[in-house]
Amino acid sequence: MTFNSETKVNQIAVSNPGARHILEVAGIDYCCGGAKSLQDACLHANVPAEEILRQLRQNSERVVPGETQWTSAPLADLTKHIRERHHQYVRDAIPRLRALLAKIREKHGSNHREVGEIEKLFGDVAREMLMHMQKEEQILFPFIDSLDRAATEGSAVEPPFFQTVRNPIYSMMKEHDSAGELMRQIRAASGGYKVPADACTSYQATYQGLEEFEKDLHLHVHLENNILFPRAVDLEAAAV
Ligand SMILES: [Fe+2]
Ligand SMILES: [Fe+2]
Repeated sequence: MTFNSETKVNQIAVSNPGARHILEVAGIDYCCGGAKSLQDACLHANVPAEEILRQLRQNSERVVPGETQWTSAPLADLTKHIRERHHQYVRDAIPRLRALLAKIREKHGSNHREVGEIEKLFGDVAREMLMHMQKEEQILFPFIDSLDRAATEGSAVEPPFFQTVRNPIYSMMKEHDSAGELMRQIRAASGGYKVPADACTSYQATYQGLEEFEKDLHLHVHLENNILFPRAVDLEAAAV
């Protein structure tokens, strides 16, 4: 794929994992704000578009080990991967990060007021994400799996109560925007996860864990917004 400043960032992210990695490192939003052109996204992230384009052209064929090309794998495999890899990660990370945040707020909260703010923001992300993943697992993903099965077997799909897959997808994308925005606020409040000089090991572990959580959320939302959801819309349209 050839890139220019007008190419949409979600197309760049989907093109290969190496390109997605470059966007992630540069702090460019390719999951929730993926519909922006590279030029606009770079402006938003305050990074020079020319430099990003140069890196993309140079490294676009680099393959990050362990990332499958989900653009062609069966959709039921992708929903399974998201559940097992990303939903499970979120469920494991939440209690660990909540406990760490409570611990460092008690110890450092009076000197570092931002810890209380981050704890509150993370509480909101955690609550929203747990409900969000439950909706995906109970409503949207089973329907996508049935679309995938019907396409393979050439059978009909039972009409869903939500009429079209576009309806729950729309709600899920709104919720992705909200979680992404809360993580951006956490990043800002922590000064880009910069650990203060007087920080203890738990403080470091908390910021490291939050940064990893944000990174995983980007990949998770990318797989859904940029690959799973558009492919499900196409599959549903082909089934009618
Ligand atoms: Fe998800
Ligand atoms: Fe989601």
